[in-house]
Amino acid sequence: PTRRISGFKPTGPLQLGNYLGAIRPTVQGQGEETVVFVADLHALTVPHDPERLRDLTRQVAGLLLAAGVDPDRTVLYRQSDLPAHAELHYLLECSASYGEVHRMIQFKEKGGGSGTRLSLLTYPVLMAADILLHDITDVPVGRDQRQHVELTRDLALRFNERHGPVFTVPRAVHPQVAARVADLADPAAKMGKTNAATNGVLFLLDPPDVLRRKIMRAVTDAGTDVVYDPAGKPGVSNLLDLLATCTAQDPARIAADYTGYGRLKSDVADAVIALLEPIQQRYDDLGDADIEHVLARGAERAADHADATVRRVRAAMGLAGRA
Ligand code: TYM
Repeated sequence: PTRRISGFKPTGPLQLGNYLGAIRPTVQGQGEETVVFVADLHALTVPHDPERLRDLTRQVAGLLLAAGVDPDRTVLYRQSDLPAHAELHYLLECSASYGEVHRMIQFKEKGGGSGTRLSLLTYPVLMAADILLHDITDVPVGRDQRQHVELTRDLALRFNERHGPVFTVPRAVHPQVAARVADLADPAAKMGKTNAATNGVLFLLDPPDVLRRKIMRAVTDAGTDVVYDPAGKPGVSNLLDLLATCTAQDPARIAADYTGYGRLKSDVADAVIALLEPIQQRYDDLGDADIEHVLARGAERAADHADATVRRVRAAMGLAGRA
């Protein structure tokens, strides 16, 4: 059977790329077994403020619920509530090599200075632990996380070869459109919740007028033609991707409907606002106690499967059994 997992790092407020690349595909897959978690341990890999981490963790969990994660069908929990993540992380570090982790693109982009937290280097191994704990088959993620899922596969296959069939080997799955939403102000960069300049980032909780202003100011490409050409015209193509994915159409086909950028942008703004307004309303209706209740129940439900995996790994590696 298919088992999916989706994780979100509370390092900033969720943005549209998170929704289109991962949240929506996960919500749509909820007919099958689904695990969703707030990856608060991952947020400790970069300088952080404890108070802000607590607030963002609650906000991310609330937005996941508002965006359609159904706590009756899906196990939704906070990573740090399950010690099994940290334990499996360490055990997997003993199968991973320095070289294969060091070459991860995200570390090359963000890490390297002598003040870099060691956990930023080993973060992909923690991500592998997150996935392998739950015997996941499919990991719906944006394109930026593909390399980490490949590493997870490599670690699982190697472990199974050495120690027998302990892990389920997962694969990454990406949406056809919007697997890498670009920053509106800098189409060469991916939209990200921690981007320094936020005028190109559409946050899920941005009010409609802010969303519209950011979209109307989006950087477009030289010329005035509206054509779908992601390599040659990344700015316009990103807008076409957004409109196509919000309205369930094909980006190359809708390009023909437009003769200039102005009307394209205002249609993108209408579509994004129509997509996000209901999520924002549901978010406003959620109380802190509701969110905390869901997370507590989720951690309880996730624990049995996770603990069973860790017991299997410990035994395979020659460690003593545990009561
Ligand atoms: P994070 O928190 O950076 O992003 C969460 C999810 O959103 C996707 N995403 C995007 N998709 C399309 N376009 C974008 N511009 C865009 N920006 C973000 C990400 O690909 C991701 O799917 N390491 C993960 C969190 C994590 C995780 C896991 C995910 C930890 N353990 C286990 C899945 C399974 C991360 O930093 O995602």
